[in-house]
Amino acid sequence: MNIAIIGTGYVGLVTGACFADFGVNVICVDKDDSKIEKLKRAEIPIYEPGLKELVEKNMREGRLSFTTDIEDAIRRSLVIMIAVGTPPRGDGSTDLRYVEEVARTIAKNLNGYKVIVTKSTVPVGTGSLIEKIIREECPHDHRFDVASNPEFLREGSAVEDFMRPDRVVIGARSEEAKAILKDLYAPLYLIETPFVITDIETAELIKYASNAFLALKISFINEIANLCEKVGADVHVVAKAMGLDRRIGPKFLHPGPGFGGSCLPKDTMGLRDIAKRKGYNFRLMDAVVKINHEQRLRMKEKIKQMVGTLKGKTIAVLGLTFKPNTDDIRESPAIDIIRLLLEEGASIKCYDPAGMPNARAILGDSVEYCKDSYHTAEGADCLVIATEWNQFRNLDMEHIKELLKEPIVVDLRNVYDPQKMKRAGFKYTSVGRC
Ligand code: UDX
Repeated sequence: MNIAIIGTGYVGLVTGACFADFGVNVICVDKDDSKIEKLKRAEIPIYEPGLKELVEKNMREGRLSFTTDIEDAIRRSLVIMIAVGTPPRGDGSTDLRYVEEVARTIAKNLNGYKVIVTKSTVPVGTGSLIEKIIREECPHDHRFDVASNPEFLREGSAVEDFMRPDRVVIGARSEEAKAILKDLYAPLYLIETPFVITDIETAELIKYASNAFLALKISFINEIANLCEKVGADVHVVAKAMGLDRRIGPKFLHPGPGFGGSCLPKDTMGLRDIAKRKGYNFRLMDAVVKINHEQRLRMKEKIKQMVGTLKGKTIAVLGLTFKPNTDDIRESPAIDIIRLLLEEGASIKCYDPAGMPNARAILGDSVEYCKDSYHTAEGADCLVIATEWNQFRNLDMEHIKELLKEPIVVDLRNVYDPQKMKRAGFKYTSVGRC
């Protein structure tokens, strides 16, 4: 089977490489010529473990190709997956211009029955919108189906999440489209992956509901952590005991500076917007978004409390990405907290194993970029752990203490043990622990 993946970002590139590894002939399309030229040389523009090997192998075996010729890719494919950006607008709604542009191009190049699939996270009703565009703009009356096949990939583990998903969700109107998409995922049948086959609107909402619930768990545990600090409880023991209840589960109950990334922030606001447009006030999402924003402010105050005043102080920040094992700094709590510290007159030294080039693009020279954790700590008034990269989990704390002006550590990801740090002579604080 031939498929075309339109858009070679985090979702499109991983999806294309993994489907090729399933034995499917995949054409990955992007309008960015320089990006396509790099991909043809297996130069991967994103930091995703295992992806480069997958791309190289499937290109070598002739199942994966890259092109800017979207018209040709459409004509040659039975399935066309739309994996272009669906960025949020300022009011929280979703900008669908790129999806609509692809739909119009598909309409003009329809040369037989095809299944047009939304892979990107799109508001409920986008499938119908694509149907409308193609029906209105296609000069012929070729049959086609639109379907929804949302991804649940996490950055830093996207290949693993694709190859061993908790479930595959397929939303379509016709049995033919459902059968074609199930066939595409045939290798996952062999490992008995659960398939949820439903209608388009339900599949579209499943994606938002899933991400919004993950965000809700994070905002919930962050509120519990904030309460733990007031009542003298240990949030990790609370989270562990909660997670032992199989109805709750242990995952996504790690407190910290709040959630970031290109998805959870966007999808929580997107779900709220979908509801609002239908006259429903999704108050719970309002709270999740507000708590997440305020957690950053709370972390800045936590740092301020430890150093007295921020003005004129030097704060060392370890971690810039929104989570470890990625170079992505989109909506990163670390970046937001750095901005808040700068606003109060602090100087910032920072280090991140993968995120500094992306961080420099938005922070510029407002901060000092360091070559490692120790260079970052040298001469600083306080050390902040903002992202839990493994590199930060076994620092030589005796050396850190010598390098810091003051032995102050603010651990926003609860990497270290409070008692051990205090015994080692640090003024130490974290999130939700005494
Ligand atoms: C998320 C969803 O997990 C994934 O299913 C969806 O397809 C895309 O969005 P991702 O954004 O890559 O994936 O990262 P994720 O691992 O979910 O973390 C998101 C944010 O939440 C990060 O900033 C992370 O630090 C934070 N987080 C996560 C917590 O603060 N606590 C947790 O317990 C888990």
